Amino acid sequence: MQYSEKVMDHFTHPRNVGEIENADGVGTVGNAKCGDIMKIYLKIDENDIITDCKFKTFGCGAAIATSSMATELIKGRSIKDALALTNSVVVEALEGLPPVKVHCSVLAEEAVKSAIADYYGKIGRPIDFEIEKAHEDEE
Ligand code: FES
Repeated sequence: MQYSEKVMDHFTHPRNVGEIENADGVGTVGNAKCGDIMKIYLKIDENDIITDCKFKTFGCGAAIATSSMATELIKGRSIKDALALTNSVVVEALEGLPPVKVHCSVLAEEAVKSAIADYYGKIGRPIDFEIEKAHEDEE
């Protein structure tokens, strides 16, 4: 399987690994088929800006690389921007992923959305976006 240099870079030197204590939003998602789990922590200020973002991923190299890239892409951005982050944006930023590894990037998109949903739940804001559910049938 051929990985891009960007993927290898983010896999071997993942950015923003760890936890945020007292995070404003935490999202955990998993893929039932491969068993991988991704957890994203967000710190969000009063202007809806994601001031900090960390992740913990128990999963394959592509899952680690996509979590790392996703955190880089949403850090310092607004919630609105983070909600617009699709897995294809993450894949593009990583200069591509082998087709069998695209589902790993879907986890990253879902983890971000799920962390924002957690934040919305905490502050009592209605959740006006969809979180896709486990992609058991996808490769
Ligand atoms: Fe499951 Fe990559 S193989 S997330």
